Amino acid sequence: MKRPKNCERNLPMKKKAHIYIVGMGPGNPDYLTPKAKEIIENSDVLMGGRRHLKDTRHYGKEERSIEGDFQGVVTYIQEQAAKRKISVLVSGDPGFYSMLGYLKRHLQDIEMDVIPGISSMSYLSSRLGETWHEDAYVSLHGKEEHLQQAVKNKNKVFVLTDATHTPNELAKALKDYGFENKMMIVGENLSYEEEKITKIPLKEWRDRQWSNLNTVVIADE
Ligand SMILES: C[S@@+](CC[C@H](N)C(=O)[O-])C[C@H]1O[C@@H](n2cnc3c(N)ncnc32)[C@H](O)[C@@H]1O
Repeated sequence: MKRPKNCERNLPMKKKAHIYIVGMGPGNPDYLTPKAKEIIENSDVLMGGRRHLKDTRHYGKEERSIEGDFQGVVTYIQEQAAKRKISVLVSGDPGFYSMLGYLKRHLQDIEMDVIPGISSMSYLSSRLGETWHEDAYVSLHGKEEHLQQAVKNKNKVFVLTDATHTPNELAKALKDYGFENKMMIVGENLSYEEEKITKIPLKEWRDRQWSNLNTVVIADE
């Protein structure tokens, strides 16, 4: 049976302020969904990191940077969401290591429309021409998490890196853990013109300069 709009499970109707959490895909507008574009076009304010605000500047919307200041984002949304149409832009898919979880915990009175996007992980899998349903995913973004376990148990492990946990650091850790026979694939600037995908067996690894925007796959050689 069709439920009336705004009436979930017969709860009393209550109009909540609401925002959009928009998955921006890997970055190139060719990989931004038409739905995400429509939401951005209809927004008053775009909140996002420097990269996403730059990529959406041509929409001519008010911009609010969220670099690192998550509490500031929460306060702004609490104050403005009832008055203005706010979209929070996150990279890839909002369901995969984004600030969606944080926003849900801290903004329980705000309704959120989550717009899916193409994850860096699914984009890189496609570029490699491979499936990803049996792989493991680890984010070194802020916290180190089950890396050894995942590399031991899975043929392919996707790793989201950050400024501290670089591919060089990762290669060193993997060698220390005894995974010399694995190979690392580094996908830099995925989907952009400067995209580069490099495959290196760990045995032959030499530290080098990588773009800060990269996703790594650890695979069997
Ligand atoms: C906070 S995580 C967000 C992941 C995102 N929700 C997703 O689905 O891909 C950010 C990390 O995603 C990866 N990433 C996002 N866009 C990328 C791109 N265009 N090229 C390479 N890696 C990317 C990088 O490892 C970056 O540090």
